[in-house]
Amino acid sequence: MVAIEANSKIGVGVVGVGNIADLSLRGYLNDDRCKVVAVCDIDSAKAKNKAEQWGVEKVYSDLEKFLNDDSIDAVEILTPTFLHHDHVIASAESGKHISCQKPIATSITDAVKMTKSASKADVIFRINECFYHFPPLVKAKQAIKDGLIGTPQQIRVHTLVGQTDSEFQVGLDPDGYTWRFNQESPGGHIFDDMIHKIAISQWIVDQKIISLQATMRRQHTFFEPFVALLDYEDNNLLGILDAAYGHNLWMNSSYYGADEFVEIIGDEGFIWVTKCTGELLNLPPLSIYDGKEQNRSFMHFESIDSDWGAGFDHSAKHFLDAMSSGSSTAEMTPLDATNALQICFAIYKAATTHSSVDPRSISEKVISPGGYP
Ligand SMILES: NC(=O)c1ccc[n+]([C@@H]2O[C@H](COP(=O)([O-])OP(=O)(O)OC[C@H]3O[C@@H](n4cnc5c(N)ncnc54)[C@H](O)[C@@H]3O)[C@@H](O)[C@H]2O)c1
Repeated sequence: MVAIEANSKIGVGVVGVGNIADLSLRGYLNDDRCKVVAVCDIDSAKAKNKAEQWGVEKVYSDLEKFLNDDSIDAVEILTPTFLHHDHVIASAESGKHISCQKPIATSITDAVKMTKSASKADVIFRINECFYHFPPLVKAKQAIKDGLIGTPQQIRVHTLVGQTDSEFQVGLDPDGYTWRFNQESPGGHIFDDMIHKIAISQWIVDQKIISLQATMRRQHTFFEPFVALLDYEDNNLLGILDAAYGHNLWMNSSYYGADEFVEIIGDEGFIWVTKCTGELLNLPPLSIYDGKEQNRSFMHFESIDSDWGAGFDHSAKHFLDAMSSGSSTAEMTPLDATNALQICFAIYKAATTHSSVDPRSISEKVISPGGYP
């Protein structure tokens, strides 16, 4: 693996300084083990502006020149999803370690090519999946692993999208939505956002989905109300994954107008996680019910950090941990991310064919039954 010299700071370069850049960078800017040395964006005014805000010295608008900069050991790729394939492969061929935003790519073929390219270059390649590092979900996963709720029987992952007037939401640049709303994107909200909840549905129980059924609609260009029924490799376990939209429903949030409710039911208890994005429900972010005969008690984790941004901070730290320790992998692995994309496409296929689909059988791109957004 490309080595980082001991005692030297890891040089981080950022490609794409759009809507998600501030949150994605905060963890790197606050960690002494690295220095953000360069930013790159085709919009040079935007790149210059962010570089000034973050105190970064070098500004590029050309990816090739940026990747030729030897002070960059690792790149954080924050460009539109349809560019991830080209940007990850170019970064791997330049010998940079790579953290790239979700979804990994717009097709399975592209995801496989990216993975092979990083493996050939012997660099770390991970997907920056903030929900994998969101403290209430991390603690819930550990509790399940520790057997606190017994054997998982059912997982229910609900998302409700509505309206909010948070500073973050109001400050989003509408240009960040053009590529989400055209043929560069194979689907709408399931591809763009529910891919996080798809990932959680497997990761939190450490179980693969082997078959699913789904039904969905398309609303307002981008939104894809859906319900998917999940069948896991463990015969005990079933799941439900869904998204609903309240176009006139307002909620409190410091970020997007959306919130999640994740419920994992075991044969000895259950876990609830909420407030993963917004602050909708008047519940603790994490509750664990221990239903063993002698216990029958709730543990409520009121003060666990449930700021959505915390997932990004811990994610940056995790990538730095991997590079500092010389580990060759970091979460989310490209294999996991490719599998999450297969599940997204399996939902589209199942909703089109009205039949069960094994996500592992998906080897290309599937367009949403609602068509391109
Ligand atoms: N983890 C999350 O919850 C989360 C949230 C939002 C976005 N994302 C992901 O982050 C990525 C970026 O999303 P966004 O909302 O910030 O998009 P955006 O459109 O706001 O930002 C993308 C930036 O990339 C720049 N860019 C485009 N082409 C480029 C090129 N060839 N070279 C260099 N820069 C280029 C654009 O000028 C823009 O500044 C997407 O993959 C998206 O799915 C993740």
